Amino acid sequence: MTDHIPDDISPDGRDLREYTDELRQNHAIVKNTSGEWVLLKHADVVAAAMDHENLSNNVSDYLQIPNGLDGEAHTHYRKIIDQYLSEEALEPYIPEFQKVAIQLMKELPKGKVLDAVNDIGAVFAVRAQCAWLGWPAKLEPRLLKWMADNHAATRSKFHDEMVIVANQFDEIIRSIIRPKRESHVQENSDITTRLCHDVIYGRELTEAELISILRNWTGGDLGSIALCVGVIVHQIAQQPELIEQLQKAENSEVEAFIDEVLRIDNPFVSNRRVTTCPIQIGGQDIPEGAKVKLHWTSANRDEAVFNKNEFSPEKNRPKNIVYGAGKHACPGRLLATWELRIMLQALLTSVQNIEIAHNQKVEREIAPLGGFHRVPVVLS
Ligand code: HEM
Repeated sequence: MTDHIPDDISPDGRDLREYTDELRQNHAIVKNTSGEWVLLKHADVVAAAMDHENLSNNVSDYLQIPNGLDGEAHTHYRKIIDQYLSEEALEPYIPEFQKVAIQLMKELPKGKVLDAVNDIGAVFAVRAQCAWLGWPAKLEPRLLKWMADNHAATRSKFHDEMVIVANQFDEIIRSIIRPKRESHVQENSDITTRLCHDVIYGRELTEAELISILRNWTGGDLGSIALCVGVIVHQIAQQPELIEQLQKAENSEVEAFIDEVLRIDNPFVSNRRVTTCPIQIGGQDIPEGAKVKLHWTSANRDEAVFNKNEFSPEKNRPKNIVYGAGKHACPGRLLATWELRIMLQALLTSVQNIEIAHNQKVEREIAPLGGFHRVPVVLS
């Protein structure tokens, strides 16, 4: 059953989750005014994510490595990327992330109103990414400004503005990689230098390929980490008893808690595919060349899979698709999980209480973004 609904499937001012919860009661799939088929149910989203033959990732005119690639090309590039995101490769950065998190918590004023998304999430995301990629700390203000501009452009939905901020980001990356491409790889070289000299099809990655890969690692994900921090801190401010419980919890329990909070309020909303032949999804015939949207946020709240959406980290974890499914599932999952856990543990060690600021408005994000735009909190 389908319906024609607004482009971003969120009428102004409505919480995207509430809206898709309502839609999902009567529709497995809806068509938005941009002509995209939006999959709302868990089973259909997972099936679509696994169906690499009939649903292609080649949805954009821009070079998108690896997410815009299919088949063997995707496998080749993904291999290069995965080597930087394995447990073994990331472990040496744990002390760096801890240092960044502890330093940030020291800097955050107590007893004053802070925004968990921008003052905690965005700053932590930028510093952690710079530490991981070997980018100079002096880039922080430029990256934070870019994040704010990118956010504003995405909210405005103006294509021209989005192109301008995308170009600004490419400019930042170009300024970082040009000298690194000229240098040689040594034993202690940073990740960006090593990536600059990675070889594919018998040649080094081109500047355009490097920009695309690094745009993917940073551009999108800085925003995701910041939004995730907003969702997590908001949850804790609602349930202060969690502070003590999480302070005592094992790393694996804290990570399971984070995953479950993000399942219920998934700020990484959706990804697109295009059909390579006529197919049927959710009982709906879809023609070849149609755009299909995998709505992670809706699927992750599907009552048919997650019993009444009850909070249950262990039980719900196997079906949680915050990080996607199939060949394109997020390679940065471990990095994101560790960064978020380390940030949360540092925050909880440095405070006794986290409260939503009185007389201040908690603002939800508007589609196509999920999570919160602003979470005003007071740390004490
Ligand atoms: C909390 C933060 C994050 C969330 C919720 C998230 C979520 C996702 C999801 C759902 C996908 C699947 C997209 C699809 O099927 O089309 C994805 C793909 C991807 N993510 Fe993440 N991600 C996060 C952080 C990161 C980080 C930190 C990195 C790297 C540093 C990263 C790199 C990527 C890349 C390269 C892809 C494309 C993979 C492919 O097409 O093979 N992500 N992410």
